[in-house]
Amino acid sequence: MKLAETGEALREILKGAPRPCVLVPTMGAFHAGHVSLMERAREMAGPHGSVVVSIFVNPIQFDRAADLDAYPRPLTRDLATCRAAGVDVVFAPDAASMYFPDRSVTVTETMLSRGLCGATRPGHFDGVCTVVLKLFLLSGCDAAVFGEKDFQQLAVIRRMVRDLDVPVEIMAAPTVREADGLAMSSRNTRLTPEQRADAPRIRQALSAAAELKNPAEALAFARRAIEASPLARIDYLTLVDAVTLQPISEILRPAILATAVFYGDVRLIDHAAVTP
Ligand code: PAF
Repeated sequence: MKLAETGEALREILKGAPRPCVLVPTMGAFHAGHVSLMERAREMAGPHGSVVVSIFVNPIQFDRAADLDAYPRPLTRDLATCRAAGVDVVFAPDAASMYFPDRSVTVTETMLSRGLCGATRPGHFDGVCTVVLKLFLLSGCDAAVFGEKDFQQLAVIRRMVRDLDVPVEIMAAPTVREADGLAMSSRNTRLTPEQRADAPRIRQALSAAAELKNPAEALAFARRAIEASPLARIDYLTLVDAVTLQPISEILRPAILATAVFYGDVRLIDHAAVTP
């Protein structure tokens, strides 16, 4: 496995690397969900193609400095995980090598990124789009794998690739859950034991509410179930069209019941599909 710490080094390593080249963009602090993305990338690349994992805690997508500072960065352990997963190249730059101090270009998606996490985390998706496009350009990858847990991120990246004619195939990998249903997230490690024990209620609330075909009832049910815990604070809870991500009041097409919930200062997201 090779390690590149700058964009220049990555380009050099990947010059003439076996194709297809499949990228897994991450912020590190790996759990089984990340490993499933690496496995999906290997399936796509085949035994002779190249799997590249980027590990970069992207400062420009964080809306809260405390969240950026607290984000776990266990690089040595992450590299071992990549090696065990058969990754060919890891790209782990620092912020100074990714961004010029007078950086003045940002990629902005203006429709799908406005609601949900975009509404409560201003600038978040600008930061995501900007870094993902840079990672695509630096790696010259043919395809990239993203987790479905961040369904809004996936939709925004697909739109960016479509609208800017970026020649990268976007693959989605299913959400991986703990045995008690909590969606795996690098932020879970920051929960106290009490918060961790309580957090599966998010999944339980969404799954049960998604069975109720009346949108108002589904939202009210999920809100009650989450707010029944004194530890949980809802950031948003909404029902959106699965394609446009616009809020809906009638379920005529596939929809998504989505939430972000704070446990202390740890913000967790999850969603459930709702079918008409
Ligand atoms: O999903 C993530 O971990 C990040 O948003 C990504 C796609 C690596 C961009 O920094």
